[in-house]
Amino acid sequence: MPGPLEGKHIVLGVTGSIACYKAIDLASKLTQAGALVDTIMSYGATQFVTPLAFRSITHRAVVTDTYDSNSEYSIEHVALAHQADVVVIAPATAHCIAKLAQGLADDPLTTTIIATTAPVMVAPAMDANMFDNPATQENVDTLKRRGMVIAGPAPGRLASGLMGMGRLLETPDLLGYISYTMGKDADFKGRKVVVSAGGTMEAIDPVRVITNHSSGKMGYAIAEAARDRGAEVVLVAASTSLPDPALVNVVRVRSAQDMCDEVLRQVKTADALIMAAAVADYRPASEAEQKIKKSADDLTIELAKTTDILEAARGNFVKVGFAAETQDLIPNARDKVTRKGLDLIVANDLTDPQAGFGVDTNKVTFIDGDLKVEDLPVMTKYEVSQCILDRIHQLFPA
Ligand code: PMT
Repeated sequence: MPGPLEGKHIVLGVTGSIACYKAIDLASKLTQAGALVDTIMSYGATQFVTPLAFRSITHRAVVTDTYDSNSEYSIEHVALAHQADVVVIAPATAHCIAKLAQGLADDPLTTTIIATTAPVMVAPAMDANMFDNPATQENVDTLKRRGMVIAGPAPGRLASGLMGMGRLLETPDLLGYISYTMGKDADFKGRKVVVSAGGTMEAIDPVRVITNHSSGKMGYAIAEAARDRGAEVVLVAASTSLPDPALVNVVRVRSAQDMCDEVLRQVKTADALIMAAAVADYRPASEAEQKIKKSADDLTIELAKTTDILEAARGNFVKVGFAAETQDLIPNARDKVTRKGLDLIVANDLTDPQAGFGVDTNKVTFIDGDLKVEDLPVMTKYEVSQCILDRIHQLFPA
């Protein structure tokens, strides 16, 4: 099963901003992800970086002139518009945004935008005063009203030396926005999905915690896959160093109780709950106020059971759990389906090096509410997530 960008025709419009150099990295990452990237550069963009840079990275022609008789696209000037799965403008200047708002078509990029029926994502980059200008703001609103996705800009240091809102989003965020733009009207549109990720941390004292090896990768992959199918996603994340995925509402928590409180609050309005987090079953019965000093040879810490979040979460939503086991995978997972009242459990064997904690792949077995078992092959965690979402979608009321 391919990733979200594999084989997709992406038209990358690049306009004249110093942030053009970042568009080279974007073109590179898109190409590495298997996308076919056709670059269209404005005259301004060619003053900052050369077409050769994009051609070298994408291995595809770069369009700079509508009337270039040597261009492979010149005969049918709307060819790129027709074959695009998505049109991305990054960076988009104030001038380019104004032209789009006016519906002008006086260069290859604006002509392509007018001619395409593909979704369009616009990533502004300019000086903060230019972005704040009411004309630009009105133009941005116009593009949003027409259904274009506006990605950024981000706050920070600008080329002028000023701090403000105007930086082009970083490449990982742009990639997230592009995947979202392609899937925003897909089968999870209008659905709210709550996902948990990472390992909870249970405080022993102000210095020490009980935790586990969850990296958060599985839950993050589910959150991104749900976003890429148009869902509103809330990701309740514990102790992970992964960056927030674009367009996902990330709520960071620490303990099992924090996660429980947040999940129970979020599921009131959810269509699906997917608990990929490794939640502590026990926590220290009390947290010492001061750091525990080394004295006796032995130290006993009394543990108390945590609330089982999946058991406590009840309502009109599809409920999916994970089972992380080191032995008796299927019987243990089956027992969890029944005990926690699940519609689906995703069982992974932690002794398999391609499954479970920390790795980018997983090998899972699905067990549904009727205890029917399906083994899946090793896949990336993003691909596993798509399979989980397929199952959830079948369970939504018509
Ligand atoms: O984060 P990664 O490094 O990518 O690793 C992924 C993973 C191994 C953490 C993930 O694939 C996984 O298996 N997550 C569930 C881990 C776990 O806690 O399994 P469990 O068998 O102990 O719990 C069963 C289910 O009950 C889980 O969905 C868990 O989130 C949930 N649970 C557990 C305890 C608790 N107090 N409340 C819960 O809701």
